[in-house]
Amino acid sequence: MPAIAIIGAQWGDEGKGKATDLLGSRVDYVVKFNGGNNAGHTVVIGDEKYALHLLPSGILSANCTPVIGNGVVIDVDVLFEELDALEARGVDVGKLKVSASAHVIASYNRSVDKVAERFLGSRRIGTTGRGIGPTYADKMNRIGIRVQDLFDEKILRAKVEGALELKSQILTKIYNRRAPDVDAVVEELLAHAERLRPMVCDTGLLLNQALDRDETVLLEGGQATLLDVDHGTYPFVTSSSATSGGACTGSGIPPRRLDRVIGIVKAYTTRVGEGPFPTELFDDFGAHLSKVGAEFGVTTGRARRCGWFDAVIARYAARVNGVTDFVLTKLDVLTGLEQVPVCVAYEVDGVRHDEMPVNQTDFHHAKPVYEYFPGWWEDISEARTFEDLPKNAQDYVLAVEKMSGARISVVGVGPSRAATIVRHDLL
Ligand code: GDP
Ligand code: IMO
Ligand code: MG
Repeated sequence: MPAIAIIGAQWGDEGKGKATDLLGSRVDYVVKFNGGNNAGHTVVIGDEKYALHLLPSGILSANCTPVIGNGVVIDVDVLFEELDALEARGVDVGKLKVSASAHVIASYNRSVDKVAERFLGSRRIGTTGRGIGPTYADKMNRIGIRVQDLFDEKILRAKVEGALELKSQILTKIYNRRAPDVDAVVEELLAHAERLRPMVCDTGLLLNQALDRDETVLLEGGQATLLDVDHGTYPFVTSSSATSGGACTGSGIPPRRLDRVIGIVKAYTTRVGEGPFPTELFDDFGAHLSKVGAEFGVTTGRARRCGWFDAVIARYAARVNGVTDFVLTKLDVLTGLEQVPVCVAYEVDGVRHDEMPVNQTDFHHAKPVYEYFPGWWEDISEARTFEDLPKNAQDYVLAVEKMSGARISVVGVGPSRAATIVRHDLL
């Protein structure tokens, strides 16, 4: 049976959490395969609002087994804080499975993240400061600490000593900070080891066996295509693979088992942190989208930069991920505009680009070429079928669909589960 991936198609915060939750009751496993607690997913169920960071949004669905895959970086303190907070609200978190091969975020990597950003000054990335980048760097450098290391103190100590040989030099000699103490780091990493132990397993095996039994596995991406370390707007990216390829490497599910790739795309665009953003608005329209869309980060509370829909990016995301279906979210936020601009191409130094420029400098210089669509004034938050939408809203969706390279199967018209129009079933 199918493995399905949910992928952010822009710069994050497209509404992946809501999309996962929509499918949660119909899938057997929801897997987080990349990133860590840099993610922030909001899920609204009735009057209850949940903010999830490290846990996959599927944890809110009673019959679904949530899994943290090998591609994730785990802050163990945050994991238990999040689990405790959910448990206090009556959510059953007992089924969570955690990959033995996932990497652990040590406190020295949180320090490096924050201090490196300050050091970069005007070249900073605007990271979430959670230690994500330095932990993935350690993984690639082969000095990372993995979940399985927490269950063998001798090995853990040897690995921490090895990592700190390098980190201490960096922290003291480059960043003028104190060297971390090996004992303190080991103690801090061991603090929750026994509580973690029963959750830990070979999640790749677990998920492939589930697929063999015809069960459904949903792979929930954190971050998004344009923040992917390979395919995003490098260096203004996160440090993991947020695209559908990453769904395979970060979970141990082979590409051939992935049947469907669902791209989540906002009806406009937002970005948190630094980096290029061709359709960014600095005028009253930007302020309007920010206010009506409540565009503030779930993780850091930072204001999200806002701009119009960018079809070049949507097409790129469709291509890179092999998107089979798009979920277009937050269409309701566009209500009440005289006309709605859509970026259909870029102009770079007088040359039109219909596809993403391969060159970073070109993307930084890209000026949007807009097409304008007539707006609508009717409240669409109660629309439940495509036909319930006013004609101009329908035309906007159809135009965006035509430009984006895959069908728009679901349209979001509000934050709640109910505020959803399904044109084609996602399962
Ligand atoms: P994620 O990181 O991709 O899961 O997205 P976030 O949760 O960070 O941000 C998306 C925000 O939009 C959340 O506050 C959601 O509750 C909200 N949201 C999702 N879909 C819709 C929609 O169709 N309309 C409106 N108005 N809000 C939505
Ligand atoms: P979700 O899953 C939006 C951004 C940060 C920064 C860059 C690198 O909620 O869509 P990092 O801490 O990852 O090293 O920061 O990536 N970023 C996000 N932006 N949504 C996210 O997650 C993000 N996760 C990271 O703002 O620009
Ligand atoms: Mg988010």
